[in-house]
Amino acid sequence: MKYPLSEKYNTPELMAKIMGPNPMKLEEELLTGHKIPAGSVVCDLGSGQGLTSVFLAKEYGFTVYAADLWSDPEENRRFFREMGLSEAEIIPVKADATALPFETGFFDSIVSTDSYNYFGRDPEFLDQKLLPFLKKGGYVYIAIPGMKQDCHDCLPPELLLSWTPEQMDYMHDVAYWRDMVSQSRDAEIVEVSQMESNEEVWADWLRQENAYAVGDRRAIEAGGGKYLNFIKIVLRKNKSTCGGRQFPGKASVLDTQKNRQVSYRNLSIFSLSGETQTHAPLPPSQADPHTTVAGNRILTLIQQFCTLKI
Ligand SMILES: C[S@@+](CC[C@H](N)C(=O)[O-])C[C@H]1O[C@@H](n2cnc3c(N)ncnc32)[C@H](O)[C@@H]1O
Repeated sequence: MKYPLSEKYNTPELMAKIMGPNPMKLEEELLTGHKIPAGSVVCDLGSGQGLTSVFLAKEYGFTVYAADLWSDPEENRRFFREMGLSEAEIIPVKADATALPFETGFFDSIVSTDSYNYFGRDPEFLDQKLLPFLKKGGYVYIAIPGMKQDCHDCLPPELLLSWTPEQMDYMHDVAYWRDMVSQSRDAEIVEVSQMESNEEVWADWLRQENAYAVGDRRAIEAGGGKYLNFIKIVLRKNKSTCGGRQFPGKASVLDTQKNRQVSYRNLSIFSLSGETQTHAPLPPSQADPHTTVAGNRILTLIQQFCTLKI
């Protein structure tokens, strides 16, 4: 594919800041045909030294929070000013993706390039740690390094020239990631697919002279690239997601076994997904609509016969 936006960043000074396979090209492919309106407040999650954040602000017109754990936000701030972006346009934040320091529903969208594989390999991560900070209906766009097919039990020797089995644990195939994100109750999968960008983004990275790029050359020069790919994941937070919340007013439940509506006051909901109509648990005892419901067992039981409409 062609990368007209990323080519503008192909200068020795900017390329010296990349931390892996060309992240601007990955982001350009990731966001082809995206659904984030200009002016949206976007989290660049795992933003590193901020190149991807600058790219999001300048090329797409987003207000960007550059959230990263390892990089120095002050250094990133200086870089953003040098790139002509103001504090209102791009904000560096020291943040751990597993404990984000933002208000609930703060972001219109979340974009993450070459970093989600560090913290997103936990089935609970999306619902518990990330999606609470996204507005309902908001999109998550993720590009991660992966493998064409998981082979962690028998890793090709070419890959072991540059990476340990523990480091390879961060790389997985499309099936693994589809299974991982499909466990979210609060988001629907829009797309999980192999990206086109691979050889080109690796070549840009291996041309760099830093120790990490030099170390990665061994595996790729030995032909290890044929086992690797990049994976695109697009998710959308459910509009009616309200996991763990209480409905202080009246909630109407359709008991599909008895085929009749039942109304409750102050219904507590353990988990809710879907847009207009969805499954949800009733209180453990239907005679006690004030009981807080929690636990998968009850959710499963109730899913068999109840549909909640709100
Ligand atoms: C390979 S770098 C990619 C940086 C940037 N997205 C890019 O493509 O240039 C991976 C980044 O993930 C970040 N990261 C790893 N674990 C993290 C966590 N728990 N929370 C936030 N960021 C994390 C690191 O700080 C690092 O900057």
